[in-house]
Amino acid sequence: MFSSGLAGLLLQVGLFIGVQPAAGQASGPQPFDMSSIALTDSRWMDNQNRTVSYLKWVDVDRLLYNFRANHRLSTQGATANGGWDAPNFPFRTHAQGHYLTAWAFCYASLRDDECRDRAAYFVAELAKCQANNGAAGFTDGYLSGFPESEFVALEARTLDNGNVPYYAIHKTMAGLLDVWRHLDDTNARDVLLALAGWVDSRTGKLSYGQMQAMLGTEFGGMNDVLADIHKQTGDERWLEVAQRFDHAAIFDPLAANRDELNGHHANTQVPKWIGAALEYKATGSSRYLDIAKNAWDMTVDAHTYAIGGNSQAEHFRPPNAIAAYLEEDTAEACNTYNMLRLTRELWPLDAASTAYFDFYERALLNHLLGQQDPADNHGHVTYFTPLNPGGRRGVGPAWGGGTWSTDYDSFWCCQGTALETNTKLMDSIYFHDESTLFVNLFTPSVLTWAEQNVTVTQATDFPAGDTTTLTLGGEPGEGWALFVRIPSWTTDQAEISINGEKADVPTEPGTYASIEGRAWKAGDKVTVRLPMTLRTVPANDKPDVAAVAYGPVVLSGDYGSDSLSSVPNLSLDSVKREGSEGLMFTATADGKTVKLGPFYDAHGMNYNVYWATQGQLPA
Ligand SMILES: *[C@@H]1O[C@H](CO)[C@@H](O)[C@H](O)[C@H]1NC(C)=O
Ligand SMILES: *[C@@H]1O[C@H](CO)[C@@H](O)[C@H](O)[C@H]1NC(C)=O
Ligand SMILES: *[C@@H]1O[C@H](CO)[C@@H](O)[C@H](O)[C@H]1NC(C)=O
Repeated sequence: MFSSGLAGLLLQVGLFIGVQPAAGQASGPQPFDMSSIALTDSRWMDNQNRTVSYLKWVDVDRLLYNFRANHRLSTQGATANGGWDAPNFPFRTHAQGHYLTAWAFCYASLRDDECRDRAAYFVAELAKCQANNGAAGFTDGYLSGFPESEFVALEARTLDNGNVPYYAIHKTMAGLLDVWRHLDDTNARDVLLALAGWVDSRTGKLSYGQMQAMLGTEFGGMNDVLADIHKQTGDERWLEVAQRFDHAAIFDPLAANRDELNGHHANTQVPKWIGAALEYKATGSSRYLDIAKNAWDMTVDAHTYAIGGNSQAEHFRPPNAIAAYLEEDTAEACNTYNMLRLTRELWPLDAASTAYFDFYERALLNHLLGQQDPADNHGHVTYFTPLNPGGRRGVGPAWGGGTWSTDYDSFWCCQGTALETNTKLMDSIYFHDESTLFVNLFTPSVLTWAEQNVTVTQATDFPAGDTTTLTLGGEPGEGWALFVRIPSWTTDQAEISINGEKADVPTEPGTYASIEGRAWKAGDKVTVRLPMTLRTVPANDKPDVAAVAYGPVVLSGDYGSDSLSSVPNLSLDSVKREGSEGLMFTATADGKTVKLGPFYDAHGMNYNVYWATQGQLPA
């Protein structure tokens, strides 16, 4: 991961016109608070449960070890961790912020007291570390598992041990902010603002040139978290500090819409773009919006594999080079986690476009859902998702002593972001403005929209099935409209019915279907059917090399324990569904029959995603 070398009955019709924001104001649809949405039984919930069980099991004192040791407090007999949290690992304590965020999400969505108590305890202990800075020889506000002298070397451009100090500080700040936000924990606020003050005083002393040079070392989303603290506090000071972290070498070409991503360490860049989106919302400066949107467009259009992931060996490759880089170390998971965060920041600014949530669905379903090992009750994950012929999850470049993450000996970046991914699977299903409910994802869940006195229960076996049903409860009334994403992958047979009657609303693929002006009643059932067909997802650089998808689901071939030395030949006309339920297919590849199934289920087997295709898919 690291650049340092380490690595409606009256149904009104019409297209929704996105409203442009006034300068300096956030506008467009807003997410719901996590406490308003609960997942119900599904594959998504299974993932969440596995991650939550790990979060409630992990020894908090082990996670405090490096903070306490560095701030000269007793480590209280705890065992030190291994992997990227070992006491001699340069950016140790980068992972803990993800645990704080995930405990905060767990409490926010599940009202789980144990997650709350763990977060609160951890933050109280961090406060003690920070309060001991005098004795430890650190400046006020500093908080980390490695000494402050690393920042002196960072600023002098003499840091040569692979450390990425602000990367780790960003994670701690983001975790503290989430604990403050979701638990209303004042310790988290105080520790966070003291640490942010430390960042301000350190960076405030640097010239523009010194600061830009320093930004050559990976620094996570420092502009993102500081802009978010500005949003939380309304204090302009934090916006100014955020803008110090605007990295000109990366932002200038993006502002000019030049794709110079080739060769850049991918996950070093994506968090900066999320920061740009937040800085746009805070300032109204269109340059920030251009940076964030251009980066998203370039990455999604020219650097992204069929499964929604990007990068090979953690780096962006030349635009459109996809078939050329089908390797074991493709699709670093953090990049996709960050692209999804960027996506949910950008969509509200252009809420008529389904491109954003078409991508969100594609990447969540085909990359991140299957990143987690379903056989592991702690929900361990992979770092990369191999796309080489005959690739296998959990095999490939092994970071920190394991191919699946482990309880205490990995602590990779992608293990940290996966803790967040799997505790926020509810956060982007629904959005709202004052009088519109947007359904962006088809995930079994219950939404409570308190301002409209309505509950929405979404029941579906999507994507195995093509239908989702939204049942209204509460006192829904007539004050609001329902907008449903009609994905670009569906057909002109997509339809919406209300209480069993087909509704007269346009459902063109790639638009939002709108039901407006209806007097809703408790018990109303809105059924959305999104027919799926087989399609190919061609590689930009070699269109006859393609993945095969059914609706939103990328299919992969099951090669068991057989290895493959090259991209297999697939006769597209041979692809056939087995039965009408479930997503099992067969096809002929290299003259042999191969079973195809959802890539998100391809665990414990060698698989194949991209094929050298011949012929045409059956109509
Ligand atoms: C998942 O966790 C929820 C509590 O959040 C529990 O109600 C449900 O039974 C769990 N599901 C499984 C399959 O364990
Ligand atoms: C929600 O219900 C409350 C209490 O019944 C009522 O006062 C309020 O006007 C309702 N709000 C809406 C938007 O219908
Ligand atoms: C795949 O197809 C190519 C071109 O049609 C052919 O040259 C090659 O021998 C085929 N490979 C296999 C394993 O059948």
